[in-house]
Parts: sequence; structure tokens; C-alpha cells
Amino acid sequence: MGNVAASVKALKIGLGKVKDDALLVGFFKEKLGLSPELKKLDSQFGNVISSCIKTSGFKAEKGEFKNIYVNKNIINIVLAGLGEESKYNPDVLAAVIADASKRLRDNGAESFSIFLDSFNNGKFKNEEIAEKMALSSLMGLYKFTEYKTKDKDKIKNIRQITIITGSNKGFENEVAYSSIVADAVSKTRDLVNTPPNVATPEYVASYAKELAKRNDLKCIVFDEKHIEKMKMGCFIGVAKGSINKPRMVVLDYNGSKGKKPIAIVGKGVTFDSGGLNLKPYPYILNMKDDKAGAVAAIHIIEACSRLKLPLNLIVVTPLCENMIDAASYRPDDVLKAYNGMTVEIKNTDAEGRLILADALSYAAEKKPQAIIDIATLTGASLVVLGYVGTPFVCTDENLRKKINEASPKSLEKVWELPLWEEYEESLKSDVADIKHIGDEGEAGVITAAMFLKNFVNEVPWLHIDIGTTVWSKVDKGVLVKGATGATVRLMMEMLREWK
Ligand code: BES
Ligand code: MN
Ligand code: ZN
Repeated sequence: MGNVAASVKALKIGLGKVKDDALLVGFFKEKLGLSPELKKLDSQFGNVISSCIKTSGFKAEKGEFKNIYVNKNIINIVLAGLGEESKYNPDVLAAVIADASKRLRDNGAESFSIFLDSFNNGKFKNEEIAEKMALSSLMGLYKFTEYKTKDKDKIKNIRQITIITGSNKGFENEVAYSSIVADAVSKTRDLVNTPPNVATPEYVASYAKELAKRNDLKCIVFDEKHIEKMKMGCFIGVAKGSINKPRMVVLDYNGSKGKKPIAIVGKGVTFDSGGLNLKPYPYILNMKDDKAGAVAAIHIIEACSRLKLPLNLIVVTPLCENMIDAASYRPDDVLKAYNGMTVEIKNTDAEGRLILADALSYAAEKKPQAIIDIATLTGASLVVLGYVGTPFVCTDENLRKKINEASPKSLEKVWELPLWEEYEESLKSDVADIKHIGDEGEAGVITAAMFLKNFVNEVPWLHIDIGTTVWSKVDKGVLVKGATGATVRLMMEMLREWK
């Protein structure tokens, strides 16, 4: 796998020396004039740029592109509209770069260059622009072709992207950083997109083991016998209905001496049929993406290790299937969680919080400084923020600050929901210590989180519900239809500056 064939490099050279299939140049709506560097290039090519701007009607509207066929050292010059300068921000930059990259690829380019300086109106650091350019072009160019067998040779790919700057600094470090994060996003997308008959708990566990070996991470895989021995009753309950046995993967990264680890727990339901409370069509579709929290966590720890970040990280991923069988757990069952609490089951489709309950208690035993869980936990997340953003809950001021600072930098939008005590009421059970779901249709994201809170044992906790943002139905900007790789960029922004 690893479907982005492109690699990105940064180069500090004059535009006149560029040799490439295409050169991408950005323009703001109110600044259609040419900068001194572009003027030089323009005259080198017989004023093709200035005359195109004069005669073609190119207005530099956001997302507008104009192709000039030059057929010299540079084959095509592509003008990219950035819209009004006052509305320009890293989101616009990322969308335009990603869309331009897709367009160039689809038009047959095998490599292209981007003139960085034309995408900075002086309000941003060139370092930031370079980073976003590399990341968004690679994300936009992602394609999942693993299961196509016909016309494979006709699949178009960009080999090389070169970020050109006239400024007195190259941007090798920024590009190297983004390439690692983009790689983590692509691999997350690949494994989430992998069909559920292939990506079973066992498959994901072996995948994690291989990845750990390559990156010098410690890796333990608990099998079903061990999980049973540990008395993870909630996890076992969910897993019982499948012939594909559960696994729990624990990965360890040691990048710093003496610091308490950060724990990341990821929901890894490789297929969620709903269990006995079977999901009806079409809601049962795409339920292979229910492993996305676990898959993201695995690639986040890999990226941290590749970047040698000075921190310690533990990743815990409970992996299982939620299926229908004579052995399936039932509504009205009472399960005994790893932390000893008894849990009354009301709907077997609320399985994610059960496997997370045991994984969270396990993570809390490691005495981490914080626990962050990533989970495709609720359909209700769609109601709260649509496809635009990801809801989260948090019990700690410091963690809240970290995610809120990382979010705009990562271009992943998040919004906090409250954990008001009143919501506890709906989780009261008549027969057990707690019920795992709240009242139908009421604050589903929060009541799910409220349930999980019982298992983190007072450790500072951040819960991210990617029920909606895990998946894209559109091919637009950095998004490609299918798995998005949600939280990878967000978490990497959080972790790279972790103190
Ligand atoms: N994996 C689903 C949540 C989900 C649904 C993610 C749709 C992405 C798209 C989760 O296990 C689930 O089924 N949740 C139920 C909970 C309910 C039964 C309380 C839900 O949200 O409907
Ligand atoms: Mn479910
Ligand atoms: Zn689920």
C-alpha cells in the first residue's frame, strides 16, 4: 500500500532555472500584477503570463485555475486564484494547492513545481506555507487503488513536487516534517479503506506488529485468551459474536527519559454490524471505518517515532468485530468491566464505548499524564457539527488548551461539548452499576462520553468523537472520497509542541 507515489522537495533557485511539467503560481484577486521574479519569467517566455492575465478573463477567484501552455523548460504555467487577500488563510491555501495538484495529475503531469513566494501575502511565515503546501498536495493526491485490477497502468500519479522559493532559506525541514505526517495520513486512509473481510482484528494486530518492528517500538498483542484472563468483560462481550477473534495491541514509544507517558486509546471495531441490534441498510455501509480510531493511533505513534519527538507515548487499541451469532451479547445482558463495574447493555450497537471502557481502564493503570481516546463513537456527531468539525470532551484545562491551539494549525476543526452532571442521570441502571446508553435521541455524543468518563480513573482525559469526520463523501481539497485520516494532523500538532 502507500498510494501516494509523490515525494516533495524544497529548492532555493530562481524561477528562470525551473525545468518541470508545470509551474504553479498563486494570485490574489486585487493583485493581478506581476512580482519582479514573475516579470523576469514572463519576459523569458515572451510575455505569456501578462498577456494571459490581460486577455483570458482570469480574475484569481478562489479556486480558479488558468493553464498556459508554454512548452519550454516549463511545459505549463498554471495560474491559481487565491481569492480576496483579506480572506486568505491556511485553509484557502491548502484547498487551492490540493485541488491544483489533483488537476495537474489528471491532466497528465508527472511532476510540478510550486512558486512558494506567490502564495504568501506577507502575513504568514514562509515556513508555515511550505509545510502546508507539502502536506495538502500529498493529501489531495491520495488514491486508494489497492483493489482495482483493471487498467492499473492508466492510473495517473505525480512523482515529484518541488517547492521553489527565492527567499534566502530552503524549507527542507518543513517539507521533511510534512512528508512524515502525510505518510501517516495516507497509511491511515489505506488501512481504514481496507475492506472488513481483509482487515480483521488479527490482520490489524499483525500490521501493528510489523510497523513496530520497522520503527523500533515495543509492541504487545494480547489474544482472546489473554483478554479473557485479564477479565475485560465488556471487551469480551462485544467480541464474542465473531469468529474473527479480538486482539488488543499495546505500542510503546520511548522518546524521553523520566517523563510520564501520554496514552492514546483508539476504537478498533473492524466491522460494526450493530450486533443483535442490527444496523439496517444503508446505515450498515461503511462500517469498516469503525476501526479508524485505532488505525489513526497506530500511525500517530509511528510518526512520533520517525520524528523522534521528545516524549513517551503508549497506544492501546482494542480490536474486534461487532457481529451477529448465537454467542453474541444481548440487550439486557450485564457485563463486568475490567475495572470491576457492572454494565447493563441496552443496545448492542453501542459497542464502541464498551471496548473503550476496558481499554481506558488498562491505559489508566499505566499512570499516564493524560489519556486521549479517538473513536468513531456516535452517529450523533453528525447532528452536532455535520461533516465540518469533530466534537470533543475534556476534563483538563491544560489538555483543552493544547487541542484548541493545535486545531487551527492542523486545519482540523474541533469543538468542545460539556460534561454537565445532569447527563449522568440517563446512565442510571435499575440492575447494574451503570447503563451504557442514555435516552434515545438526547445528547448522544455527550452521554457516550459521560459513560467513558467512569473508566479513566481521574487521569486528565480528552475524548475525540470522529463518528462523522472519519469519512468523506466528496473529493474536494485535501479530502478524497473515503477515509480521511481524521485526527492524525491534529494529534501531530498537539504532540510536536507537547511540554
Ligand atoms: N460506530 C457507530 C457510530 C457511527 C455511526 C459512526 C455512523 C459513523 C457513522 C457506533 O458503534 C454506534 O453504532 N453508535 C450508536 C449508538 C447508539 C446505539 C446509542 C449510534 O450512534 O447510533
Ligand atoms: Mn455500533
Ligand atoms: Zn461502532
